[in-house]
Amino acid sequence: MAKKLELTPRLRMVADLIPEGVRLADVGTDHAYLPAALVLEGKIPSAIAADLRPGPLSRAKTTVRAYGLNGRIAFRLCDGLKGIGPEEVGAVAIAGMGGETIASILSAAPWTRERDMTLVLQPMSSISDLRLWLSQNGYEIVQEELSREGETLYTALLVRAGEMAPLTPAELWAGRNSAAPLRGEWLDLWLGKTERALAGLSQSRQESAPQRRRELEQVRSGLLEMKKEWETWQR
Ligand SMILES: C[S@@+](CC[C@H](N)C(=O)[O-])C[C@H]1O[C@@H](n2cnc3c(N)ncnc32)[C@H](O)[C@@H]1O
Repeated sequence: MAKKLELTPRLRMVADLIPEGVRLADVGTDHAYLPAALVLEGKIPSAIAADLRPGPLSRAKTTVRAYGLNGRIAFRLCDGLKGIGPEEVGAVAIAGMGGETIASILSAAPWTRERDMTLVLQPMSSISDLRLWLSQNGYEIVQEELSREGETLYTALLVRAGEMAPLTPAELWAGRNSAAPLRGEWLDLWLGKTERALAGLSQSRQESAPQRRRELEQVRSGLLEMKKEWETWQR
């Protein structure tokens, strides 16, 4: 029986945000690497591995068998959290999906903001839309972490029910500032996206272009301020 499951840096970041001792629902589990690693490490006693499609769920079953975790990880074929009861879990992970999908999964499960529940969200796209949606729908982003796989940076959000101080336009894009070592590169990434969006706009004749330009300039200046602040923290 294999004893240890090495997670990639992205999933390791998600795993590290899961609190100890809770039963975890891993939504969109695919291979079930996240819950399997956490149970093997003894960080959590058990988990529910859920996926929308039979193919990924069958891969999850293969992992659970291979690591001798039968009985510790249950399976659910369901859309989001629709097949999972609030009383069954203390934490929910939703990783490797678009921000809009994550928001729609949470929106269909209001108990995620009505109970003392830890949510660990790892969006691959539409991250600013997700931050905005969370802030407007009774969630608080308590912590954000970064990880890198090759050239790609990923973020993971630790979220709970609660009120959140409004995010500035730049914070919506890049999250709140921190001294994390990867934060400088992360800010550069968003600065690059802002510059490209501004360059694209320079040719635009659309009526909305001047307003969009002002918004992007505000984002750029907020990102530059955060970069400066991050640099002072590195000294
Ligand atoms: C890219 S994989 C991510 C796997 C793993 N969570 C990770 O981060 O490595 C996305 C998985 O989410 C599943 N998925 C997509 N939409 C879903 C939904 N609404 N409910 C449950 N699972 C979903 C897909 O079937 C797929 O297995």
